Amino acid sequence: MCGIVAYVGHKPARSLLLEGLKRLEYRGYDSAGMALMDGSLKVTKTVGRVRVLEELLAQQPDFEGTTGMAHTRWATHGEPSDVNAHPHVDDPTRGHRIALVHNGIIENYAAIKTYLADRGHTFASETDTEVLTRLISELYAGDLETAVQAALREVTGAYAIVVMSEREPGVLVAARKGSPLMVGVGQDEYIVASDSSAIVAHTTQAITLEDYTVARVTRDSFRTTTIDNVPITPQVRELEFDLEQIELGDYEHFMLKEICEQPAALRRTLKGRIDVRDGQVVLGGIAEHARSLVRARRIIFLGQGTALHAAMVGEYLMEDLAKIPTEVEFASEFRYRNPIIEDRTVVIAISQSGETADTIAALQEAKQRGALALGLVNVVGSTVARETDAGIYLRVGPEIGVASTKAFLGQVMVATLLSTFIGRRRYLSGEYVSELLRELEALPERLERAVALSEEIRDVCRTYVERENWLFLGRGHNYPVALEGALKLKEISYIHAEGMPAAEMKHGPIALIDDGMPVVVLATRNSQYEKVVSNIQEVRSRGGHVIAVATEGDDAIREHCEDVFFVPDIPEPLQPMLTVVPLQLLAYHAAVLRGKDVDKPRNLAKSVTVE
Ligand code: G6P
Repeated sequence: MCGIVAYVGHKPARSLLLEGLKRLEYRGYDSAGMALMDGSLKVTKTVGRVRVLEELLAQQPDFEGTTGMAHTRWATHGEPSDVNAHPHVDDPTRGHRIALVHNGIIENYAAIKTYLADRGHTFASETDTEVLTRLISELYAGDLETAVQAALREVTGAYAIVVMSEREPGVLVAARKGSPLMVGVGQDEYIVASDSSAIVAHTTQAITLEDYTVARVTRDSFRTTTIDNVPITPQVRELEFDLEQIELGDYEHFMLKEICEQPAALRRTLKGRIDVRDGQVVLGGIAEHARSLVRARRIIFLGQGTALHAAMVGEYLMEDLAKIPTEVEFASEFRYRNPIIEDRTVVIAISQSGETADTIAALQEAKQRGALALGLVNVVGSTVARETDAGIYLRVGPEIGVASTKAFLGQVMVATLLSTFIGRRRYLSGEYVSELLRELEALPERLERAVALSEEIRDVCRTYVERENWLFLGRGHNYPVALEGALKLKEISYIHAEGMPAAEMKHGPIALIDDGMPVVVLATRNSQYEKVVSNIQEVRSRGGHVIAVATEGDDAIREHCEDVFFVPDIPEPLQPMLTVVPLQLLAYHAAVLRGKDVDKPRNLAKSVTVE
């Protein structure tokens, strides 16, 4: 949610910042801007994508400097517009010429605005960010770092900011609380960014800023303090990031690339974690908490969006394999409803980015109430990864497409491993687990067959793509997959879709079914197969068109549906990892056929770092 990149060093910053913005654009893309310092402070900003900013800058050959900052925005306070875009600057009449970019929300901005207005400040935008800029300006007495510290002591809310002042050329001041920010350490240069994708092309050495940290950066110096000016020793770490992973390569969209990468991604997730011969799951990250997990009385999964759907699959798995009562909660709801955390409760946050504000807040709440907190996270070193007692990384590589695909598979796979790890220490026999692990080992190859359905799915999609209402039905482990299929279709093709348990349809939604309405049904061979076939009849007898996902070899299903995509046969608990793939491809092709911007759907952001 919003991307920040800033540079101080010896190179011309403009092209470097533009390149960084393009890499960060998946975090927000309703407006973009840049400020550079070259004797004086220059700012250019515009509503629209980074390419619009690039076109504007192309008409300004003098827009150069070796210190600068840039931002790509996902609007919170104030509509997307030129004036609301970042960087924000202070009142030119004050002479400090301060520029600031910000991710997050300043919650008490209205009170600060009133205070500043009384002191003669005027405001050009509707944003909370401009208020923070003016506050720093108000407190500025010749030292930017001191002014930023003082201002941040006055604000509540979440922020990752970078600030510079015309009075102090070659100085960047960065700070964070609640929104991610890191500093890449190069040769006589530093790159500050909201995520590593804007850094890795230049250096793999980076410092992740902790909450309430202020960093003062020049081309040859770096220091960090708290907002109360207490020095902090920064920890430099090596970023594990391969540039190729964030390049499009031969693919047209990141989403398609990431769908196709799923077999390889899951091989990485599994690597070194399963011992098929002994029927054991090896999870180093949580080993020291094994006893607490085995003794757990209750497990609560937390997440938002796709991660919540993965958590719902996790609930089935945990109850099936580990036999521990398990619940799933929207992190946003859990946080604010006075949750009861009893003794031996384990809370497991699921998150691709590890930066979703609701998930972090819920996690903190659960920890405060005494729960053991685990994280199933993709981004190494992210807030969820750091704030949990232990965790398991997904290892699926960077996910750039805003619609999550390979992270979902990674989340479900890691939930499967965790449930099996616990189950093996409670009830499951070595033979049973060996067999399950053999199936997991074979899964990537089966996924390749599911991915190969792409063209077939595109052809079927052409028939239905103009329809504005779709249903997705599934039962048991495939019920969360139906929710995920509907979410994918909604978010990238803007088709209205609802997912639900197949049996629930007849309690209301069946009224929606009319002639030719597409109804996607997960009808693989499993314990509820016959029941699902009955649900299919209910749809067809009312004129709905059924698109089924079924098990290879089940030719009889053809009689019951208009279209069918066959996936390989695998045990019921593992089916979601396979059945979701045709639904991802369906959503992808629907969006492409409708001419939508697949990787940057309207109104969405990859990582929602505000509550
Ligand atoms: C946003 C994204 C979703 C994602 C959700 C949770 O809404 O658009 O694709 O599933 O956040 O993100 P997380 O990083 O916590 O998995």
